[in-house]
Amino acid sequence: MESYELAAVAAVTTRPAAEYRTIGVAPVTPVIGAEVTGVDLAQELPAEQLAEVKAAFLRHHVLVLRDQHISDEDHKRFAAHFGELRPVNPAPPEGDPYILEISTDPAAANVAGNGWHADGTADEEPSLGSMLYISRIPEGNSGGDTLFANMHLAYEMLSPALRTLLDGLTAVHDGGLALKGYTPPADYVIPVSEHPLVVWHPETDRPVLYVNGAYTARIPQLAPDESDALLRFLCEVPARRPMLTCRIRWAPGTLVFWDNRCTQHHALYDYYPLTRYGRRVALNGGPLKG
Ligand code: SIN
Repeated sequence: MESYELAAVAAVTTRPAAEYRTIGVAPVTPVIGAEVTGVDLAQELPAEQLAEVKAAFLRHHVLVLRDQHISDEDHKRFAAHFGELRPVNPAPPEGDPYILEISTDPAAANVAGNGWHADGTADEEPSLGSMLYISRIPEGNSGGDTLFANMHLAYEMLSPALRTLLDGLTAVHDGGLALKGYTPPADYVIPVSEHPLVVWHPETDRPVLYVNGAYTARIPQLAPDESDALLRFLCEVPARRPMLTCRIRWAPGTLVFWDNRCTQHHALYDYYPLTRYGRRVALNGGPLKG
């Protein structure tokens, strides 16, 4: 690796250890993800435990909480400690407006999220984070894992010259790109927003490479062919650098809470023609800071 890449990795791996008093935190990899134990989401969590979960979230970006037995109300109560609940858009025809069903029909040709992305980046104020609670995994099959990538490190491992170029650019995120054959309700307004290519995390003040293959359409400051080539290179970073990623294996009762501001995820569809089912709650984020 180049010296700037090594320096970026070392800045993460040599951080002083974090101390927790009320929860267990076991990193999934040195750079992303942690399994959290000692938490029962069916109960209201004490303030100290919530503060420790929040600290672990900001440090590891993706938290995995296993063996949870929760209702929609428990799910939303836990989520609401971290931000304002985000209504599902387009609104579900029935049921709770804050719960998105992540459901694979038998023998579906594709599934939502089967590609690197962060949730809702075409919105003017993209989502802070999402919490997916899986209750059914593909029967007799070990598939349906989700991959996550650390987009702070994705940025920090780029060469200084490329980082300087990106710092002055924006990108257009177009919700229409992610529809891929899905026809939304007639009154759905497809979101399209322009965001800095590099944004700063509002809570940790670390830079993030903020483009993803599902939503990012173009870099308006560049010629179309330049924009296509640079976006292809940047959107492929999570796939090209496995060390940025972790792979989470689900079991019924697993809840994963991820930070949409600094990670991308990819739901693997390696269980055709079987099914998988979960419920997701998302949180509103604020304006992005470039
Ligand atoms: C999503 O993209 O939010 C779905 C993730 C998953 O199904 O694992």
